[in-house]
Amino acid sequence: MKNLVILISGVGSNMAAILDASRTEKWDETLGARVSLVISNRADAAGLERARVCQIETAVLDHRSFPSRGAFDSALAEMIEEQQPALVALAGFMRILGPAFVDRFQGRLINIHPSLLPAFPGLLTHERVLRSGCRVSGATVHRVTADLDHGPILGQACVPVLSGDDAEQLAARVLSQEHLLYPRVLRELLGSGKV
Ligand code: GRF
Repeated sequence: MKNLVILISGVGSNMAAILDASRTEKWDETLGARVSLVISNRADAAGLERARVCQIETAVLDHRSFPSRGAFDSALAEMIEEQQPALVALAGFMRILGPAFVDRFQGRLINIHPSLLPAFPGLLTHERVLRSGCRVSGATVHRVTADLDHGPILGQACVPVLSGDDAEQLAARVLSQEHLLYPRVLRELLGSGKV
């Protein structure tokens, strides 16, 4: 069975959706990998407890205890390499990974972003979508490159922006699609024979 490593920093609802997909017994919905490790850069990430409840191995690597971004990236890379993962899924992981890290995992590093990239990369996505007047938004799963939120797109899902939406309402609508999109794209990749 292939290994999948998930990196989180917070709630971990995308992680939970991927975990569910990895544990389904429906043959046509199976992910094709087991989540072998969930790593958080924050000890208080709620997703850690969700993973533990599912009896998934977890680890905390606090970026603040490293002298530099490079030192954190190296320690993280070593921890991940021990799993020999087919893919590494960033799921709400709020640290920018440096070019050496990205190079090391080239072709295996995947991220989800809550907008229709290439529109609205970066933070405060939903606030900026609302300010722009866009009538649609969505989520994008993409390969990670050194250029933040700009890697090749692997899949997208759209949602309407409704009049009267605030950022929280829009975020919830997008997130419900993320939970379907991320496992679907990972399943396609893992089944493609390319990873
Ligand atoms: C999601 O909206 C994801 O697209 C973004 O951060 C959020 C993480 O949510 N990168 P969760 O931790 O998976 O619940």
